[in-house]
Amino acid sequence: MSCLLLGANGQLGRHLRARMTDLVTCARQDADVCCDLADPGALDDVLDSLQPRAIINAAAWTAVDDAEDHRDAAYGLNCDVPARLSSWCRDHDTLLVHYSTDYVFSGNPGRPWREDDPVAPESVYGASKLAGEQAITASGCRALVLRTAWVYSALPGNFLSAILKRAGQGGALRVVSDQVGSPTWAGTLATATEVLLDRVEQKVERPTLLHVAGKGAMSWHELASKAVQMAAERGIIESTVAVEPITSDQWPQKAKRPPWSVLDGSRYERMTGEPLPDATAALAECLEKWKDAAC
Ligand SMILES: NC(=O)c1ccc[n+]([C@@H]2O[C@H](COP(=O)([O-])OP(=O)(O)OC[C@H]3O[C@@H](n4cnc5c(N)ncnc54)[C@H](OP(=O)(O)O)[C@@H]3O)[C@@H](O)[C@H]2O)c1
Repeated sequence: MSCLLLGANGQLGRHLRARMTDLVTCARQDADVCCDLADPGALDDVLDSLQPRAIINAAAWTAVDDAEDHRDAAYGLNCDVPARLSSWCRDHDTLLVHYSTDYVFSGNPGRPWREDDPVAPESVYGASKLAGEQAITASGCRALVLRTAWVYSALPGNFLSAILKRAGQGGALRVVSDQVGSPTWAGTLATATEVLLDRVEQKVERPTLLHVAGKGAMSWHELASKAVQMAAERGIIESTVAVEPITSDQWPQKAKRPPWSVLDGSRYERMTGEPLPDATAALAECLEKWKDAAC
């Protein structure tokens, strides 16, 4: 029996398929199995016909600002789908790997967030992802729920690729400096998933929450500045450009973001015996592989 990968064409999904063997990929198109997860009957059919050994759910509604105007659609993907997956996994004694977000938090505890810290999402996206976590917990199924933050890659549609595209066109950048987080290369998250499946798949007996993110705190502005500098050194962009720090007020967005998104990954490290990479080292690795389409 294979692992079923949902969201196989997303940022994380592509990194997972580049690393893992014995996967059956599922997406709306261009996958082993095509399925719109907004159709509950179609999802049930996929699960019942494939009877996977484990399910990795990398699909989600990830348009954070759009979620404010499309609450039902966001909850459909981020809560109803994991609820359905977890009840199927409970009934079939199957492991579910699911991903959640730093956006379940607000405020700043003065240290990295731990898994058991109080949650208080301030956006529809964050609330819908929290509802998904809670549905999995309530099911009691064998599950690993990996909360991550600020995921980037060389693929289009994320902060890093957008910043380097703008920098490559020679334009100066204005980037928020009062939100601090744990930037996470999609490759780091895919590797952590593989490590967990290799080492603890059979040991997971109940829903288990883990923080998996790059180690070390930096603001969006620091991330952009480092990325521009390191990309110029590697010839990804012709030369560096100015990166001006601004406040969140100067960059209004529909959904409220947490000011402190730094995640404590020590539970994952204890569970697997594997260290999570330093965020700057992971950024360097991503940039080294920039020309590789899967990174
Ligand atoms: N990106 C971040 O900064 C970040 C931060 C924290 C947590 N996370 C979490 O990490 C996980 C992976 O995120 P990501 O960055 O890889 O997201 P992504 O690139 O946006 O991928 C999400 C995938 O979900 C698929 N999807 C959406 N609606 C669907 C539907 N109705 N039916 C089937 N598939 C559907 C999309 O399919 P299409 O390709 O067809 O659009 C896409 O491939 C998510 O759970 C996300 O919440 C991400």
